[in-house]
Order: sequence, then structure tokens, then C-alpha cells
Amino acid sequence: MPYFDNAATSFPKPDCVLAAVEDCLRNYAANPGRSGHSMALKMDRAIYDTRERLCDFIGGEDPLRTVFTYNCTDSLNTAIHGFLRSGDHVVTTSMEHNSVNRPLMEMKNKGLIELTIVEGDRQGNITTEQIVTALRKNTSLVCMTHMSNLTGTIMPVEEVGKAIHGKAAFLVDAAQSIGVLPIHVQEMQIDMLCFPGHKGLFAPMGTGGLYIAPGVELQTIRQGGTGSFSQDFVQPQIMPDRLESGTPNGPGIIGLGAGLSFIEETGIDTLHQQEMKRMRQMIDGIQDEERILLYGPLDERQGPVLSLNIHGMDSAEVAYRLDQDYGIAVRPGLHCAPLAHKTIGTLDTGVVRFSFSYFNTEEEVDLAVDALRRIARGE
Ligand code: ALA
Repeated sequence: MPYFDNAATSFPKPDCVLAAVEDCLRNYAANPGRSGHSMALKMDRAIYDTRERLCDFIGGEDPLRTVFTYNCTDSLNTAIHGFLRSGDHVVTTSMEHNSVNRPLMEMKNKGLIELTIVEGDRQGNITTEQIVTALRKNTSLVCMTHMSNLTGTIMPVEEVGKAIHGKAAFLVDAAQSIGVLPIHVQEMQIDMLCFPGHKGLFAPMGTGGLYIAPGVELQTIRQGGTGSFSQDFVQPQIMPDRLESGTPNGPGIIGLGAGLSFIEETGIDTLHQQEMKRMRQMIDGIQDEERILLYGPLDERQGPVLSLNIHGMDSAEVAYRLDQDYGIAVRPGLHCAPLAHKTIGTLDTGVVRFSFSYFNTEEEVDLAVDALRRIARGE
């Protein structure tokens, strides 16, 4: 099936990921850090090895502050609820996913925080100046996406990080950018990086990560068994145990490690160029079709996510036709990002979203172009 829903979760996964997960499940998927037997130790070492490689991959300082979570939403909740204190002011943007909007609104509605939402333009662009202008004396956090899951708009994260350094902590939602765009948390002055394993890192679902820069301390939103300091009734202070309670998704983390190997061997630039080539092919194939409306910057400020509508048709109907008549997978509707849709003017209609991966072929894009043209012409 031509699969253009990689912003939801990447598919297919590289063979090395499938092989690594199977090998783990068949041969050593014991509970890490709990029992002292050889299988448990092997699992523990393999997870630590992945932690170190992941920390290197994002330019982090300390692997022990690279925490495994269950998805990007889990990372964002851990970071947002763990970092913010009563009376804090937060700056965020209108291009965020509900995994950022909802934790922040929950805290705002309880009267715990003040919130400023910086508005993007019709292509989803946000400027550093807008963020800096929104800062107040009590701003403790700026929280923004690296790349919109709706328009693919790439945000000026490095510029923002440098501009707000020393004024507020910087939390970046890398749900769409990890494994797609280079990320270096130290160079970008990112204090908390939240990301999934199952999208650009090619891991199975149920994987994610949170990097917390030294000096940033989070309260825990979850407590439990860590396999360490078991005599204590309270959550240990040491990292990563403090933020990793309960049995982890060991086989998923092993898959994430194999995903990192695939990215390193292929090269993140090669992956990105291929994804962009496919998106460009699609834009070139459909942009002269009068009834097709394209969203986003459509230039170098856009990552491999392309949203569109066919004039007069519901996005769900277009997606249904693509699926049923052509076997093509896309995501229609609101993409859990209502404010972003409001920003680009598609809250009432939704959009049909194509999100590309390294594995999409030229033939698949040709098929999608042909299908969209036919649907747009009422065939
Ligand atoms: N956040 C994911 C998406 O945009 C699931 O589809």
C-alpha cells in the first residue's frame, strides 16, 4: 500500500529494526535492571547502549538525562507538568499539537499558569521576534514545535533557543523533526527535547524520549518501581530512574537503537533529501490542478509534510477515495492540531495530509498524483 502517513507513524520500518526486535523478543527480552541474571543484564546493557547513542544523536551532554518514555505525548506531559510551578508564565504557539495544547490548557484552567499563544501566519510561520516579544518577567518556559505536523513548517528553533537563553527554559516538541532534521540540543540551546521513537527514528510504537539539560529539574508525574533504592518509599533522585518507573518497552527501545543505526548508516541528509524529492514531485504533479489547494510555505521552510484540499470535497471523503479506490494511505481531518488549522484557515474543512518517508518510491508518488487529479476532476 503506498503509505503517506509517516507523520502519524513511520511505515515500513527498516529490516534491521524488525531483525533487532525479533532477536530481542526471541533471545533476551527479560526485565532490565530488576533481576541479576544474564538475560536481564544483557537487556539492561542493550538499553543503556541505546541511551548513550540516542544522547549522542541529539547532541546531549549526559546519557543519564536521556529518558525513555512511551511516546512524544508522554514526554511532553512529563516535561510540562514536571517543570511548571504555580505562577509561571508560558509562551507557546498556535501551531502546536494537542499534546502541547492540552497539558498547558489543563494547567491554565486550574489557575496554575498564565499562557500566551503566539499566532502563526497563514503558512504556519512563527518568528523569533514574536516569541521574544511575548516574554514577561515571570515567563519560565517557551514551548514550541520544531516542525508543524499540519503544514510541515520548520520553526526557527536554533534562533529562538539563542534569543531566550538565560530568560526562560526552552522546550521543543520534535515529534515531526527527530530523524528528519538535524537536532543538536546544546547548539540549539534546548533545555527539554521531547520526541517519539516510532516516527522518524523508525522504532515500533510505544517508544519515545525526553532529554533534560543539566540544571533543569523536573518533579515526577509518575512514581513506582525502578529496580533501584528499593528500600525507600519515595521516588529516587538519580536519573534516569527518577523519571523511568515500571517495566520499560525493552524490545521497542532495541528497535529504536536499530533505527538509529539505520539513520547513521544511510545519513540523515540522504534520508531528508529523498523525502523532500518525493514531496517536490508531488507538488510539481498537482500544483497546476485548479481544484487542488496546497497549504504551507511550499519552499525550503517546509519539511516532508504536505497538506491539501480538493475544492468542494470533504477531506475525509478524499482520504476515503484514496484508500478505497487507489490503496493510498493518508490522514484527513484535524490532525489533533485545531489551533494550527485555525491559523491556516482550515478548521472547518480539515485537510488531507501526505507525509513522506525515505521508503516512498517515485511510482507511488506518480500513483498519488494521478489519483488526486482524477478525484479533483470528479472521475
Ligand atoms: N501526531 C500524529 C499526527 O500528526 C499522530 O498524525
